[in-house]
Amino acid sequence: MYTVLNQVSGKSFQCEGDETVLDGALNNGFNFPYGCQNGFCGQCKAVILNGEINYDGPTPEAITEEDRDANIALLCQCKAKSDLYIAVDELDSLANIQIRSMPCRVEEVNHLNHDVIQLILKIPGSQSLQYLAGQYLDIEHPDFEPRAFSIANAPVNSNLLELHVRLVEGGQFTNFVFNTLTEKTILRIEGPKGSFFLRDDSDCPIIFIAGGTGFGPIKAIIEHLILMNSTRTIHLYWGVRTEQDFYLNLPSEWNEKHANINYIPVLSEPGSSWTGKSGFVHEAVMNDFENLVDFEVYACGPPVMVKAAAKSCIENKLSKENFFSDSFEYANVSVSDD
Ligand SMILES: Cc1cc2nc3c(=O)[nH]c(=O)nc-3n(C[C@H](O)[C@H](O)[C@H](O)COP(=O)(O)OP(=O)(O)OC[C@H]3O[C@@H](n4cnc5c(N)ncnc54)[C@H](O)[C@@H]3O)c2cc1C
Ligand code: FES
Repeated sequence: MYTVLNQVSGKSFQCEGDETVLDGALNNGFNFPYGCQNGFCGQCKAVILNGEINYDGPTPEAITEEDRDANIALLCQCKAKSDLYIAVDELDSLANIQIRSMPCRVEEVNHLNHDVIQLILKIPGSQSLQYLAGQYLDIEHPDFEPRAFSIANAPVNSNLLELHVRLVEGGQFTNFVFNTLTEKTILRIEGPKGSFFLRDDSDCPIIFIAGGTGFGPIKAIIEHLILMNSTRTIHLYWGVRTEQDFYLNLPSEWNEKHANINYIPVLSEPGSSWTGKSGFVHEAVMNDFENLVDFEVYACGPPVMVKAAAKSCIENKLSKENFFSDSFEYANVSVSDD
């Protein structure tokens, strides 16, 4: 058992040598930032000021040469080998949010288009799930490893949870959802998880960049902003391949009803009748703004899109602290930079 002291908060916790430092922190109620928990997204990076850590395998890809020189580690993958002194900015907004495991019943299975299903899950009895709009949960089923899906509705009626599930070719769980899962099935969920949620201590305009079902958690955040009567300027860019890949008309309705919401759909493979923007969704954003100095950007979707969006946004003068993302990573696959 090792002691891990966070320089930023001055607080410490005990961590077993066989658990990751992130698990140790979360198990002790510390609100460290994280995303995929698979070693890909890099959101759990922290500086090791003193002490020894190691990884079970090779150093994860998300750790760059620069990170290594700066003693930066991935807390979701590393284990303590001595007492540690680290520096992590904890997320105060998560202070009252507890990760819980609970049963839920499949209430609705709605096919929204050719490869997206909307699942409505109901938490039985008087239980509910407290979460922040934008967070995700793990679905647990005895036949599968846990699978991460973002909650696509704002936390208003938090015993009903909406998920947008995209069919993955050859994917075990998503094929089960499309071909076998029926209403009334009992599943288990564990959550809420992740650090993708609205930072509401600012009034600056927001650019949302959604790729495919990355629209789900962004929908939850925008619904939350609407419910709070927020007047923040919102630019929502939703990118898919072809027109048939859009699966909800809600963004157009927001665009019509709310003067502060501007919706820009983007197709990467447009048909001849398409008159809107085309190309990669992050490129559409860069074409529309001279620079991003005054913005916050929230990006969510496939890893390649999120990486490209982060790079372009920072190059266009977005402050690193104002880029928030959720990358739909999947286990045991690395994503190349190109
Ligand atoms: C934090 C987080 C939130 C997520 N939220 C959502 C969400 O709201 N909606 C959603 O549709 N997905 C979401 N995902 C992705 C989702 O978890 C995966 O698509 C799902 O786990 C695939 O499970 P499977 O059993 O069908 O595929 P597997 O059987 O695990 O994989 C089969 C094959 O497909 C590949 N693969 C797996 N997932 C993907 C993928 N996403 N894209 C391309 N190839 C893939 C694998 O490399 C493998 O070769 C999220 C992921 C993370 C980490
Ligand atoms: S790399 Fe650690 S949470 Fe994603």
